[in-house]
Amino acid sequence: MMRIVLPVIGTVAAWRDHVRRLAAEGVAPEGVRWTVGEEARDLLVPDLPPILPRPLKIGREALDEIETALCHSDSERFNRAHALVLRLNDGLAWGDRTDPALRKLMEQAKTVRRDIHKMHAFVRFREVPTEGPRRAFAAWFEPDHHIVERGTPFFAKRFADMDWVIATPAVTARFDGTLHFEETADTARPPPDATEDLWRTYYASIFNPGRVMVKAMQSEMPKKYWKNLPEADLIPDLIRGADARVREMQAREAEEAPERRRAVARTMAMPERLQPEAGTLDALRAEAAACTRCPLYAPATQTVFGEGPRDAKIMVVGEQPGDQEDLAGRPFVGPAGKVFDEEAEAAGLDRRQLYVTNAVKHFKFTPRGKRRIHQRPDTGEIRACHLWLEGELGLIRPKLIVSMGATALQSLTGKGEGILKRRGGIEEMKDGTPVLVTVHPSYLLRLPDPELAKVERAKFREDLAQAARYLD
Ligand code: URA
Repeated sequence: MMRIVLPVIGTVAAWRDHVRRLAAEGVAPEGVRWTVGEEARDLLVPDLPPILPRPLKIGREALDEIETALCHSDSERFNRAHALVLRLNDGLAWGDRTDPALRKLMEQAKTVRRDIHKMHAFVRFREVPTEGPRRAFAAWFEPDHHIVERGTPFFAKRFADMDWVIATPAVTARFDGTLHFEETADTARPPPDATEDLWRTYYASIFNPGRVMVKAMQSEMPKKYWKNLPEADLIPDLIRGADARVREMQAREAEEAPERRRAVARTMAMPERLQPEAGTLDALRAEAAACTRCPLYAPATQTVFGEGPRDAKIMVVGEQPGDQEDLAGRPFVGPAGKVFDEEAEAAGLDRRQLYVTNAVKHFKFTPRGKRRIHQRPDTGEIRACHLWLEGELGLIRPKLIVSMGATALQSLTGKGEGILKRRGGIEEMKDGTPVLVTVHPSYLLRLPDPELAKVERAKFREDLAQAARYLD
């Protein structure tokens, strides 16, 4: 009989090392009792005769799926995976859904992935006061499975320019330029009735461990939540300072729009997989609404699909929805949209005649407090979203595409560089559809010199006037 206690942090990697060793030593899976973090109470595991020792060789895809399934909360997962690894090694075909154990493992991997998606969509960061040079955010999240180590690299990539902590009942992920994991201390769980003030003050201690806001906590928090904290009277000034910072931050922040929460819930209810090819704009829009082809879908409120008449002669392509578009679910309804509408009208283009869309259909942003700061989509994201743009192009078949900004240009022509030299010119898609190159309206909004802004706006209008000729 063999008892193995796996660590709470690095559970999967430790299991992998043990299984390699167990296989090399010929230990039968049924003779192993796995636990995480502490010895098992029930230790009645039979002594079994040794099995044939063997080195393990498992394909990458299989190993990845097994390791995902090991994040499931099922207590039998370690034994099941151990036995499966040996059978795969001995010739069981990977992906064979007729095998009950393999099917179960694959279903559990899928459940884990769904839990990770949920984490990506529902973690709510709150800014907390910090003494450090970077802004700091904290979140409390309760996943169904053991997904913290697998699910948080996503946040490290997305929120690389700030410090953050995601605490869960078992494991806490901490990012300060590098991602670390630790077992969650008793004191890290916010009280169920925590007010925003208390929550922030409390979590500030995570970033300023020498400056725990003990008094504030003592006054509002049940004892069980602060029993592990240092002595109370050490730092009263810091408590006052933190309170002031908290109030100042709250005054700065707007209420989170309730429609965002509702839209997130709608998005989460959508099917995970893409449907077969859509033949109408409505079907394509419905498919795109459930898109998970790149990570941008998770923090965004919803897919912002194109809009306009099916027989539009001109299709206008921007970069990606901004903050207002993300909430409204419609393209170009914010400040850049206002510039576009004004200049299009002046150029003789009626927006109702145009099909208006974006190269990327989800808003990419970095949260700053409750503001969401636009981030440019990268090549992978543009490529992942190209499918939808292609679908729109195939159904609309415009006489002309107006490409606004470098992202649209990259998506449409494969090359986004040198836009200021190319603007005003007509290029071609692979199928010969003409692409009129122009700048993005938000570029006009960003120009600090009013004279230059005026000149550039006039050039933008000229570009649109050129497009208007295709209406005939
Ligand atoms: N910028 C874009 O590129 N598209 C929008 O829909 C809004 C702002």
